Parts: sequence; C-alpha cells; structure tokens
Amino acid sequence: MEEILVYVIYIVSMTFFRSSDIRTQFLQFFKKAGHTVIRSSPLIPNDTTLLFANAGMVQFKDVFTGRQRLSFDRATSVQKCVRAGGKHNDLDNVGRTARHHTFFEMLGNFSFGDYFKEDAIRFAWKLLHEEFGLSKDRLWFTVFQGEDGIPADEDARRLWKSIVGVNDDRVIGLGKKENFWTMGDTGPQGPCSEIHFHQGDDLPCEEEFLGRRCLGPACDCDRFLEIWNLVFMQFERIHKEGDLLLLPEPSIDTGAGLERLTSVLQGKRSNYDTDLFSPLLDAASKASQKIYRHSDSDEDISMRVLADHARATAFLIADGVMPNNLGRGYVLRSIMRRAIRHAVRIQIPEGFFSDLCVAVTGSDLMGTAYPELGDARSLIEKTVNAEDEGFRRTLGRGMKLISEATDFRMDGNTKVMPGHLAFQLHDTYGFPLDLTQVIGREQGFVVDEAAFAEEMKKQRTRSKFSGSGDQVPSEMYKKIRDTYGPTIFTGYSYDYRKSGMGKVIAFLLPEGRLTEQAETGQEVEIFTEHTSFYGRSGGQVGDTGQIRCGAAIVRIFDTWKPLPDLIAHRGRVQSGVLQLGDYAVHTVDEDRHRAIQQNHSATHLLHSVLRRILGPHVTQKGSYVGPDKLTFDYSHFESLSVELKQQIEEAVNVSILKNVEQQVMETDFENARKLGAVALFGEKYGDKVRVMRLGDSIELCGGTHVGRTGDIGLFKITAESSIAKGVRRIEAVTGMAAVSFVQKMEQTVAHSIELLHVEPAEMTARIERLLEEGKQQEREIVMLKHKLLQHGAGFKKEWMLGDVKILVRKVDEVDGKALRELAETLREQHEAGVVVVGGALDEKVTLVVAIDKQLAKSGRFHAGTLVNQLAERVGGKGGGRPEVAQAGGTRPEKLEDALLQTIDILSADA
Ligand code: SER
Repeated sequence: MEEILVYVIYIVSMTFFRSSDIRTQFLQFFKKAGHTVIRSSPLIPNDTTLLFANAGMVQFKDVFTGRQRLSFDRATSVQKCVRAGGKHNDLDNVGRTARHHTFFEMLGNFSFGDYFKEDAIRFAWKLLHEEFGLSKDRLWFTVFQGEDGIPADEDARRLWKSIVGVNDDRVIGLGKKENFWTMGDTGPQGPCSEIHFHQGDDLPCEEEFLGRRCLGPACDCDRFLEIWNLVFMQFERIHKEGDLLLLPEPSIDTGAGLERLTSVLQGKRSNYDTDLFSPLLDAASKASQKIYRHSDSDEDISMRVLADHARATAFLIADGVMPNNLGRGYVLRSIMRRAIRHAVRIQIPEGFFSDLCVAVTGSDLMGTAYPELGDARSLIEKTVNAEDEGFRRTLGRGMKLISEATDFRMDGNTKVMPGHLAFQLHDTYGFPLDLTQVIGREQGFVVDEAAFAEEMKKQRTRSKFSGSGDQVPSEMYKKIRDTYGPTIFTGYSYDYRKSGMGKVIAFLLPEGRLTEQAETGQEVEIFTEHTSFYGRSGGQVGDTGQIRCGAAIVRIFDTWKPLPDLIAHRGRVQSGVLQLGDYAVHTVDEDRHRAIQQNHSATHLLHSVLRRILGPHVTQKGSYVGPDKLTFDYSHFESLSVELKQQIEEAVNVSILKNVEQQVMETDFENARKLGAVALFGEKYGDKVRVMRLGDSIELCGGTHVGRTGDIGLFKITAESSIAKGVRRIEAVTGMAAVSFVQKMEQTVAHSIELLHVEPAEMTARIERLLEEGKQQEREIVMLKHKLLQHGAGFKKEWMLGDVKILVRKVDEVDGKALRELAETLREQHEAGVVVVGGALDEKVTLVVAIDKQLAKSGRFHAGTLVNQLAERVGGKGGGRPEVAQAGGTRPEKLEDALLQTIDILSADA
C-alpha cells in the first residue's frame, strides 16, 4: 500500500514539481527538522584557496574546522556553484553529457558536530521517499571501501541496509576517487556515501558496447545518476602535502544537485530537458532555426553548451566577475568565448548570447530565487555584447590559422599542434587554451601543452591562481588569531584614534618568528587586543601612527590584515622596549586619516552618482582610497565626455554640500539588501554586515568615513581612463588636495596669461592662433630649406671628367638625411655622374656620395670607396654601397679642401 502511495507521489511529481518547488520543499523539510535556512554565499568565495564556490559547504569551511562558531549547529542551503577551473572542473563535459554543468545549484544540509551518519542517512531517505516519492527499487548506494589506511565505512553500509531496507548488493563499496570528498587540495574532507538513481538499462553504456559489464553506480554511463552525496566530514588538510588532521567534531555536509534531482522528479533523463534549461534551449533553437532533437548531434551539443554557459555567465557577472585575462575573469572569458564559438557554429547571430544571458535573469527562470541577477541585468547585457562583438572579430581568423597551419607534428598516431601556434591563437586571436583544446578534440589533434606553457612563461600576465589550495595564509597568523581571538577595531571613533589603548598580545619578526619583546631599532609586526589603527582592506589603505607604552615608542608605518579578522601593525621601535602584556597607547596620524576618510566617503558618493547618471550597469570593480587621492574602477564601456565628467563632478559636489550625516547600521545581509545596499560581495553567513549610508548612497562597508558629507570639502576629478575592456577608472582628489589641485591649475593658467599678454577669456583663441602660426612657419621653413639646399649659395664646384659630370657642394647645418636627399636630387636634376655633398653640423662632418646607377654598375666609380677616401681627409672613415654612401668626420675646417680633391682622386682612380 505504502509503495503504491509513493509511486503515486512520483507520478504526480513529474507533472507538478517545478524546479522552484523542489528548492523550497528541500529547505522546508530541513527547516522543520531544526535546520537554519542560510542563503547562498556569492560565487566568489571569501576564501583565498578557491577560485569559485564549488559546493554548499564552502561558506561553512571555518565552521567545520572549528575556527568559526555559529549560534546553531544545523543548517540548510541552496548554494550557487561553479565548477570550472580549479580542482572540481566539469567544463569539458558540458554539452556532451546530460548531467554536467559549469554553473549549478547544490541543495545541502549540514551538521556542525551535531548529528552524524545515522541521521544524515535517515533525513535523505525520508525526503526522497516520503516527500519526493522515490522508491527504493530505483535507488543504489555507494560507500567508502577503505584506502590509504583509512578504514572501510561499514557503518554507512549497515545504516543504508537497515534504514532503507535494501540488500547488501545494493550498497557498493568504492575507493577514494569516488567516495572520499575533499573541497580542494586543502580544507575539510571525509569519506562519503552517494545515492544513485537507476534511470534504466535501456540507456547506452560504453562498457557494454565494448563487451564488458556496466559498472553500475561506478560507471560513466547515464544508467545510474548520482543524485545526492553525503559527506561524513572527519578530517582537515592544512597544507597541500601535509598530514590529515582530525576535525574537532565529526560533521555532515550533503550536496544534491538541483538540476539532477529536478530531472529525476520531472521524469526526464537529461537535466537539459527540465524547466531549468528548456526555455533556454527553445530560445537557442529559435535563434539558430534548428530543431533541438535531444541528441548527441553537434547542433544539439552547441545548444546545450549555450544554455549552460549563459547561466554561468549571468551568475558570474552578477557576482562581480568581469571577463579578462586574470584568474576568475579568465575562466569567465573562456566560458563566454566557448559559447560564442558554438553560437557561430550553428549560425546564431551576434547579440543572441547576450539575450540568452539576460533571459537567465528573468523572473520565470532564476530571477526570483536570485534577485542579484535582476540588479545586474544591464551590466550582463553590455558585458556579453562587448565580448561577443570583440571575439567574433578574431574567431574566424583564428579558425583559418588552424586550418591552414602546416607545422602540426605526429606523435605516434596523435596529431600535435605546436605550442607557438596555440600561443599565437591565445595571444593574437584571444583563444583561451582550453578552447583550442576543445577544437582539437573535434578536429583530432592535441596541443603541445608544455611548449605552450613555455611561451606563456615568457609573457606571463595571468593570475597566480593555478587551481585550489594554493594560497594558504601563513599558519603563524592563524595561530595568533586562534590563541587570542579576532582583533577588535575601535578606530571608527575619533577619540580612539587620538588615543586608544590596546594590550600587546604578540610580536612577529620579519623572518616569521614570534618574540616576547621588541627593542629599539627592531622592525616588528605588533598585534594588540584592541586597535584604533585601520587595517588595509576594501581599498582603504592602512593607518600609520604611533604605539607607545612608557618610554617605548614604535613608529607604525603600515597596518594590514593577514586574516580577515586579524590586524597587524608594522613598525620600527624608536626607543625603549615594548613587551607582551603592555597596555599601549595608540595614536593614529590624524591628518592623514582624515584625508583618507574624505576620499573614502567621496568614493561612495561617486559610485552612487555614476549609477544614477550612467546607469545601473555601473558596479564597483576596485578602488584605492589613500590620503593623496582616490581611484574608482567601475564597469562601463565608453570614455566620459568632458560634459559628462563635469556633470558627475557637480553631482558629487551637490551631495557634499547637502552636508548629510553618516548613518551606520549593523544588520544582517537580507536586511541590507532590503535597504538597497550595493556592493554586496564576498559576505558569508554569520557576518553581521555594516551598512553605511551617506545621503543617497547605501553601501556595505567596513571602512571609516567622514561624520557629515560636508567634511569632504571639494571633490575634483583629475583623470579618467580605461583599465581593461569594460572597466574604466576615475581618479579624483578631495579636501585640501582638491584645493591645491585647483590652485596649481590656476597658477598654470595665470602664468600662461602673463606669457601671452591676453585677458583670461581670450587665452584659448590666442593659443589656437599661435599653434596655427607655428604650423604655418614650420611649413615655410621646410620649403625654404629645400630651396636653399638645391640652389643655395654654399661652396660649389663642377668638373667634367671625360663625359662624366662631377658636382661638389658644401651645405652646413643640415643633418645626414637631408644631405642624402640633396645628393640624390642633384644627381637626377643635373644628370651628374658623381655627386659629392658635405656639411658640418655641431662640429661633425658628414659626407655623402651619389653615383649614377649605370656608372656604378659598370664599376668605373664606387661611392663607398670615394666617400672613404674623402672621409680620411676630414679625420673620419666611411663606406657603403656602390651607388650611395655616407661617411663622418671630425674636422670641419678640412672639409672644403677635401671636396676640392674629389677630381684628383677620381682622375687618379680613372
Ligand atoms: N561537498 C559535497 C559535494 O560537493 C557534498 O555537499 O559533493
């Protein structure tokens, strides 16, 4: 009876389960079971070891390892994930299989030291069976069979059998590759157990095709689809090559791909046939005027790639990634260019890929679950259009280069593209290496990767990222933070900056060693319990100042954050000895700090004004906020006209003059979003976010700001430029720096007016006239020079040697090039056989000989020989071709004599 009911639920689900229902139902189920619902963290993780969030557990990494505590020990989420680049990389399979994606959503439930295997298995089975109607007849389970000294997971095997009620043959033991999950090369990890859905033995299987048996859940075919992975987190690896350490408490991390679950629950056999993808495939089919046949044809693969990549592109741009040649931006560019190539391949016109990415943001697709997509719609559209237009320009030429290349070599039976060609494709035609490799797979060649890497090394501008786990913050800093807790920042208040207090808890020497005290002359990093020094972050530079205790005075020349919650003061002890436990007085360099604050607040006002004037596609791409100036990088595709620049400048100054008070609020993420805060990137759950409101500008920001906007004084843009495709930079100054910028400009203008003897209003017209006059005079000078050279009154001689006319001229104060031109002109105009011109300029002699072509050919005279003989007479040397030759000398006073001897030299030689 129960089985019939389950079957009915399953059949009903095929008609009624929309992907959005599955998302909600999953979260509701775990919420009812005492889990706190957590929103997805952004795709750019707050974690230096990862390129992208690649699993639901990423935002909880520090909770698993015990470094962060939350107020609850059960959580559930639907996490945005990208698996492209880094350790988990599905890019190459996309489009070819029914189940791989670059972007996907992961449903998960988590226990932080609360329940373990038994409840995790119970929850999963209950949800799949009772809520989603899946029968045990269709489910298979895998467990870890033991490897590398880690024992087989007999508990999991027993639990599946007893809780689900299946026989032993339904629980398959597999090794580390399949059943031991690690986040990256470092991070928390543990044995895992997967639930597979049996889709049917009618699906093709490569193993069977080769005459072997299908490997069941371990097989690469689609007969068994992994739908849920339950990880029993027990270990952590801190260093890539280091030992496995035990986690403080065994924990649970599960992940079920929404796309796969939806496919199963909607009775499909491909994720692409679900409501998550079919609207996108319909659009691709319409644009290409080709029917999508759910097959493995090249056309269908192209449409699937487009649908998948449009999702990844939209989500990545919305989370702040822009296509470029660095790290994350490079992966995005690679995804976009692959998609564009597929669009071209199936004759989809330019602009469609952008429409497809915008379609992803629609409320009928992903916009409701992820409102950040709607906010970024115009940015997505512009960014994708620019990339589409740019890449289409070089794509055709790159493809031609491949088809016409002749230097492929054979390695056995494999055709190999040389590294230099792959590099040329990369460098000149914008083909990311993996795109060339995809083309290689289609056309039957591989790339000589080592040679390509060698070429790249020579011209490396790429990010330092090479995958996961490369950038682990120094253990020393972690140790300090774990021992003493996070540094408490008190510097938002002026009084504390003037004289705050902080107990000294650690000293770190430059060589990375902890010490107990810092003596006069020593350079150290100082850590205190509280600090009024702002640690460099969010674009704002670190504070400088003084830390003092009694006679011990340390000059602080930089403050930074080795970890997000640890502040380090870098300084040199000027006198005395500072010791652990000292209560030190902090004095921040206040004038400098005030200038930084002015620039920081102005940056917020500028951001808000740019969004208002240029459009909502403007998002912050970086900033520098120092005492000297601010720079603000933002997404935009055109340079600013003078009028626009002035309009922006004016609008910022209007906000300043309103003199509104800053309002700061600590709140949670959802509330910040409701308030309309921008720049919502990189936050993790548990973070209380700090919302800074300055008039119309509402941003999340941990930086320090002026009390009222009027404190900024004047805002003046000093430069505007492009720093990458689609990213522009404004540089500006505020406060006294703006005043002195204006004063300097004024001085320049005053000086110019004085020089020009005009009224200020006439200055531009006068300069224009002067420039025009200058150009006119230059033209006249050139003309006169020419005339002078040809008919000039300098030293001249002419002889006949038999029937050959010989001309000699001396023209001073012109350069070698003019002499060469003169010699050749004289030769043509006077039909001379031999022409010699010489001149002195800056005490140096130049001689040029030009000989009639026929004469030179006949060998009767040689310009090189003659010029050398003449040069010897003016203290020099020279030579050259038979027709024209040039030489230098050092004795101008001998030049006329030398020229006079031309006839003797030639007669003697003749
Ligand atoms: N972290 C595991 C995975 O990504 C389970 O969530 O598969």
